[in-house]
Amino acid sequence: MAEMFDPRPGDNLRALDAGAGAGALTDALLSSRLSQSAQQVNMLLAEVDELLCDHLEDAVADWERLSRGSVKVLNANFISFADQAKEDATTFDAIISNPPYARIGKDTPERHPLKARYIRVPNLYGAFLWLSVELLAPQGQLVAIVPRSFCSGPQFAELRRKMFSQCSLRRLHLFQSRTMVFPEDRVLQETVILHLVRDTQADNIELSWSPGLDLQATHATTVPSDRVLQSQGNDYFITIPASPEAARQTGRAADHALLLRSPVTASTGSVVDFRMKDYIVEEVDTKNVPLIGSPFVSKGHRSRRDGRLYLKRTDKTQRHIFPIGNYIVVKRIAPKESTPRLMARLVTEQELRPHSGVAFENHVNVIHAGRKGLSAGQAQHIMTSLAHPATQQQFEERSGTTQVNVSDLLSLHDPLEIRNKESHDD
Ligand SMILES: C[S@@+](CC[C@H](N)C(=O)[O-])C[C@H]1O[C@@H](n2cnc3c(N)ncnc32)[C@H](O)[C@@H]1O
Repeated sequence: MAEMFDPRPGDNLRALDAGAGAGALTDALLSSRLSQSAQQVNMLLAEVDELLCDHLEDAVADWERLSRGSVKVLNANFISFADQAKEDATTFDAIISNPPYARIGKDTPERHPLKARYIRVPNLYGAFLWLSVELLAPQGQLVAIVPRSFCSGPQFAELRRKMFSQCSLRRLHLFQSRTMVFPEDRVLQETVILHLVRDTQADNIELSWSPGLDLQATHATTVPSDRVLQSQGNDYFITIPASPEAARQTGRAADHALLLRSPVTASTGSVVDFRMKDYIVEEVDTKNVPLIGSPFVSKGHRSRRDGRLYLKRTDKTQRHIFPIGNYIVVKRIAPKESTPRLMARLVTEQELRPHSGVAFENHVNVIHAGRKGLSAGQAQHIMTSLAHPATQQQFEERSGTTQVNVSDLLSLHDPLEIRNKESHDD
């Protein structure tokens, strides 16, 4: 991580280790090319844990020799520290961070301070990224190791806007194993290291991959920035090709969206079972409509519940009911190890008869034509495209979590159309 910083020969650098722990990253930074090429480094370590701070103090004298500048340990919450720094107009030329990984729940002490600052992120690591970006001086650099989940999905959309409207993504390193990087912390997500510079986006991004911490096994390549960082409306998202070979295939034909041809679109099923339990029944009655959930899509086995739950039609449930027709349901949970990642199944008009409608649980996403069924031809085409290896690959590159978001589905390009266009061009 420390060697990812671009050296700044002759500069007096202000550097920060956000969430310094026992100081491993500070140690690496002060021994790196960045530090050696600078005239001096003034380093600040922010750490909330008092005991760790005592331990850090013991190393200050050694670090000051390396830095040729000052090294300070600050026992503080990074969020209040960032506030104070903003007030004092303090910025940094280099920030290195391995931020805490913890979901922000109702008991998380940082929850209210973050809300008061309009920082909307679901995980503490996102707050550290957000505040670090704010603390960068022009041309300042941030290198952070974080889970991949911020790369896509609505929960991190504001963070991505913050990061990529203000910074240039220079390099991304992907650890492909979900378990090899932080096994003791139970971070069961792919992990990335990112290098950002407070500047306009550079034309190219360096990509590298290693299975785990063995960096000898690293593959690397450079790609045009829009192969990795894409904007859609006012959202940014990151796609990470699985290998250098995949990276060289351009993400061409962005205009061939699979699902955005009006009125075809996708939405998440709206029936939340625990909220509507009084209306979910097992009785077959012509007034009730089939309730489609994830067992319906699961490969191989069909559970007892599969297709046998019904939603009562009442004034309260009416808005959840679609007319009978052809719909494609896509399972919302798709762990990296599952094959295929995108699991879809067609519900046909025929199998829904003689019911008067159908409803969908929130464990599935539904592809529909403006809340009506798809034509048989549309449904077949979309099913074939979803099963295509190129679509599965697009999804892999896009998705950093175990969820299939509607936005992920809407961003898919149609491999069949791209193929048609290519043969037409030839
Ligand atoms: C994942 S550890 C990383 C430690 C060290 N940088 C490393 O890489 O070994 C995150 C550190 O952030 C600290 N931390 C957690 N919440 C914090 C907060 N709100 N402000 C400052 N530090 C915090 C934790 O005590 C922990 O030492």
